[in-house]
Amino acid sequence: SYTPTPADRFSFGLWTVGWQGVDVFGPASRPPMDPVAATERLAELGAAAVTFHDDDLVPDDRTREETLQRFAKALADTGLAVEMVTTNLFGDPVFKEGAFTANSRAVRRYALAKTLRNVDLAAELGAETFVLWGGREGAEHGGGKNVAAALDRYAESLNLLCAYVKEQGYAIRFALEPKPNEPRGDILLPTIGHAIAFIGALDDPSMVGLNPEVGHEEMAGLNFAHGISQALWHGKLFHVDLNGQHGPRFDQDLRFGAGHTRGAFWTVDALEGAGTDRRYDGYLHFDFKPPRAEAEDGVWESARACMRNYLILREKVRAFRADPEVAAAAAAAAVAELDQPTVGAEESLADLRAEDHDVAGLAARSVGQEALDQLALEHLLGVR
Ligand code: GCO
Ligand code: MN
Ligand code: MN
Ligand code: MN
Repeated sequence: SYTPTPADRFSFGLWTVGWQGVDVFGPASRPPMDPVAATERLAELGAAAVTFHDDDLVPDDRTREETLQRFAKALADTGLAVEMVTTNLFGDPVFKEGAFTANSRAVRRYALAKTLRNVDLAAELGAETFVLWGGREGAEHGGGKNVAAALDRYAESLNLLCAYVKEQGYAIRFALEPKPNEPRGDILLPTIGHAIAFIGALDDPSMVGLNPEVGHEEMAGLNFAHGISQALWHGKLFHVDLNGQHGPRFDQDLRFGAGHTRGAFWTVDALEGAGTDRRYDGYLHFDFKPPRAEAEDGVWESARACMRNYLILREKVRAFRADPEVAAAAAAAAVAELDQPTVGAEESLADLRAEDHDVAGLAARSVGQEALDQLALEHLLGVR
């Protein structure tokens, strides 16, 4: 019953299962994977869509047309969609000092040209989300990067891309992916909050939202469920990268559900609306890396497990939300009282100031949070 179907709208980056295990200390531990074969295998496992960087699918102009034809055939045969496309603006050493925010104007112009070409491909394949992860937009040093100028250039690139998409009539929106560090020492737009504030300064903020990644917020010690809840509140949760992470350390990109499992429970709850109708309705996209130690069997096991863990957690979250004891504990914790305005329509600030505030009584009141949280934990631990 935890077997996914396309109706679950699971999606995978071709670079995830295709990751060969190159790391800072050693070369590839797995052979290259044909992206077309990967697409077919993901369909067999129950995914609904795939996503890719230009370089994952069409790294070489000499084989581009042939690969695109094979890929189109695989999509038609499997019924998989391409829901999101992104650009590799980090791998080639040309981007070693940044892409849209490189000090070098020539590099910035190349980065924009590379992105525009891939926006055309995204539109051709019907993708409606275009992700921008600025992994090389940042610095290791102090004086070498004028942060304000870098933000000017970042905004300039986004404004040009949005204008281009409108001019072409493409049904594409952009999603920025925050990350605090790695590969750069410090990356610009390091968290969900930084990115939301930046979007407000663009020419057309409605065209740009976020693609938050679980591990990236957790690398910064932040609560991912809170982060995506705020993004939803702003209408900015355009896409999501689900994976796992063990607290603040290097970017682990574990399969979804591994790492901070309790955080994953609340992440699924937030995506499913946290008991309200403000839910995420996009694709559930996995951006993980099958550990370098695994051979190909482990690659597919980890992909399968991402979806399976989401379905298991979704069941747990639904059971939690439907549990009458949880409802009673939530009532005792006054959870719904927070929906009431602090000053009602018929009330005034003068009323509020004139009130006899029972400070000692309020300070001593029961809040019921531990009881409610314990019920959630017991659902997660499988004893309820
Ligand atoms: C990371 C990032 C990347 C981006 C992807 C999209 O793990 O640091 O998640 O994987 O999501 O490259 O551009
Ligand atoms: Mn990551
Ligand atoms: Mn990602
Ligand atoms: Mn990743």
